[in-house]
Amino acid sequence: MIVTTKKLFEAAYGKYAIGAYNINNLEQTMGLFRGNLDSQAPFIIQISKGARSYTHKIMLEGLIRSADMVFPEAIFAVHLDHGDEETCYDCINSGFYSSVMIDASHEDFETNIAITKRVVEAAHAKGIVVEAELGQLGGVEEHVKVDEANAKLTNPDQAREFVERTGCDSLAVAIGTSHGAFKFTGDQGIRFDVLAQIQQKLPGFPLVMHGSSSVPQEEVERINKAGGKLSGAKGVDENQFAQAAKLGVTKVNIDTDGRLVWTRVHREYFLEHPENFDLRPIGKVFMAEYAKFIAHKNEKLGSAGQLEAVRKLLG
Ligand code: G3H
Ligand code: 13P
Ligand code: ZN
Repeated sequence: MIVTTKKLFEAAYGKYAIGAYNINNLEQTMGLFRGNLDSQAPFIIQISKGARSYTHKIMLEGLIRSADMVFPEAIFAVHLDHGDEETCYDCINSGFYSSVMIDASHEDFETNIAITKRVVEAAHAKGIVVEAELGQLGGVEEHVKVDEANAKLTNPDQAREFVERTGCDSLAVAIGTSHGAFKFTGDQGIRFDVLAQIQQKLPGFPLVMHGSSSVPQEEVERINKAGGKLSGAKGVDENQFAQAAKLGVTKVNIDTDGRLVWTRVHREYFLEHPENFDLRPIGKVFMAEYAKFIAHKNEKLGSAGQLEAVRKLLG
């Protein structure tokens, strides 16, 4: 069942976070639904602009609508990840997405507010919720001075003003994480001090943590052993998701870790089965491994086991 993130966030706020997972193809879709049902978790499917044009946006919509029929117990939101204004309108008018993200975080404060406000008005008119972003995610290098790093993080005072003036439903905040497999060069991590300040200014308001892949070292080692070259890859400590959830993070975005599962499975499989040229055996291994990965993340997020409670809340 496709729902907006509003009810999911109501159920989760302050207690656990909902996993937001990016998908691109059939195998990911199957693994995603299986993993969430295995762990009895509500979830968010994220579709990026790149995913929409990988095959065709209608193809992804068809996959998800089919999965909804194959797995009728699933409760999930369909969300545009990092949308620009034009793509947001396309999704709002599609009748398929229940949530969009307008990412105008690269613009100055006032322009970000103006763009976000326009998208919020269009989305709310159709019952669709909006995630916006303030601050800039980036790789945290050890040589970067604290002042310089802080400048890109979300300013807690501005966060409150931004939410009040735009009317957005959730806010992606920059709290030290970044996208991709190379997030940290030293022992940096989530800036809980900044997150706590943001929550103080926006009590009860759902916050979103992007760049939340943990880049498991065991996964990286297996990929490298099977011919990959990912040395130095490092991510967020997944054991800190619970602490972030207590501080108002209700949505945790994970994409890179899923790509690592795909890479490890395929590299190892073809190394061990050099004679194989059939796509189904490996596809089956991937779907099972992807489902296991999703269920594991949901345990760390605390969303595992929450499906029935959310169903009751939805009435
Ligand atoms: O934040 C970006 C997501 O990881 C999606 O990546 O734009 O390559 O699909 P993508
Ligand atoms: P990762 O690259 O850490 O998986 O982050 C994904 C993300 O933030 C998607 O919006
Ligand atoms: Zn992101």
